Amino acid sequence: MSGTERILLDEAAISAAVKRVGAQISADYAARAKPPVIIGVLKGSFVFLADLIRTLTVPCEIDFLTAKSYGQNSHSSGVVQIVKDIDADITGRDVIITEDILESANTLRSVCEILRSRSPASLKVCVFLDKNVKREAPFEADYKCFDIGDEFVVGYGLDYAEKYRYLPYLAAIAAE
Ligand code: PRP
Repeated sequence: MSGTERILLDEAAISAAVKRVGAQISADYAARAKPPVIIGVLKGSFVFLADLIRTLTVPCEIDFLTAKSYGQNSHSSGVVQIVKDIDADITGRDVIITEDILESANTLRSVCEILRSRSPASLKVCVFLDKNVKREAPFEADYKCFDIGDEFVVGYGLDYAEKYRYLPYLAAIAAE
């Protein structure tokens, strides 16, 4: 990376937080008739989801979707549609949606609405990061690893122009 980045969360801090959330989910979903379906919203969630599921002590199923924003330039103001859908039939299933970051919450609000229309038994939201600085309406994740401030962050699945997703830590980058 360039000299404009600052590490915010190192691998040890991330691992501890992911284990904490994994333990919460394991406790909440123990003794269910069917394993929860854990849905990753691509692309950003894939690293978090991969680490999270390996901390669970309950079985789970995995699926992915891709949501895209339309209408305006920023994902925080556009209309969100699912452009790659899940394969699973989630009717009557416990569903946990995972995201790398919750910002305006437009993405998760829309994805939840779409998935709720398919009659899951339950629907929860699990995020790695919660950046609650420009939320237009209240939206709370059921599980989260960290709150962060108003910084542009990369690594651990998060990108800047498709770069940096592979970094095992989370860093803040300054505009160049
Ligand atoms: C990011 C992130 C969430 C969304 C959060 O996705 O992964 O999906 O933005 O923002 P919101 O709460 O304001 O809707 P992005 O569009 O950058 O795509 P990516 O996951 O492929 O990086």
